Amino acid sequence: MSFLDLAIRRFSARGYLKKEIPDKELHYVLEAGRVAPSAANYQPWLFYVVRNEGAAPGWKEVYARGWFFEAPVFIVICGDHSASWKRGDGKDHCDIDLAIAADHMTLAAADAGLGTCWICNFNKNKVVSLLELPEHIEPAIILSLGYPSQTADMERHSVKRKSFNEVVVFK
Ligand SMILES: Cc1cc2nc3c(=O)[nH]c(=O)nc-3n(C[C@H](O)[C@H](O)[C@H](O)COP(=O)(O)O)c2cc1C
Repeated sequence: MSFLDLAIRRFSARGYLKKEIPDKELHYVLEAGRVAPSAANYQPWLFYVVRNEGAAPGWKEVYARGWFFEAPVFIVICGDHSASWKRGDGKDHCDIDLAIAADHMTLAAADAGLGTCWICNFNKNKVVSLLELPEHIEPAIILSLGYPSQTADMERHSVKRKSFNEVVVFK
């Protein structure tokens, strides 16, 4: 499969099968995050793996969507703003680094036949308390992970994405 085919195959899976993820596949996904590039190679991230065995009640307050609790694993991608690279004008690159790691993981998951969904619309304070995160560690992205119960809408890149000419500017 070409890289572009893989990128097209990845989609936001909002429904999962009752099927555990073998450790080997989980490790494959996490390793793809670990090897991601980051500004100045500072790697200001931590990946918390939460196994959703019936979801501890607290997680219901994190993101109250039924499909979220179908996923056997949540990966909480956290950033350490005190450990990230800042440009001369002060711009903090932490969130950029975390997004790259997350994208590596979603693509690795798709490669392994797994589904993911980025979730940023979650209750941050609840995650901080559930994971007992220290003050300098911020949860930024949750990836739900599991075998998807749906298939991708392969047309969406034609109808739900801006066109090539709208987003590419040759100068
Ligand atoms: C930074 C970011 C945050 C997102 N947050 C959520 C979210 O909180 N809940 C959700 O259902 N989808 C979320 N998504 C998924 C997007 O809605 C989805 O990627 C977009 O609609 C394109 O669809 P596709 O991923 O199936 O190609 C998020 C995606 C990104 C990149």
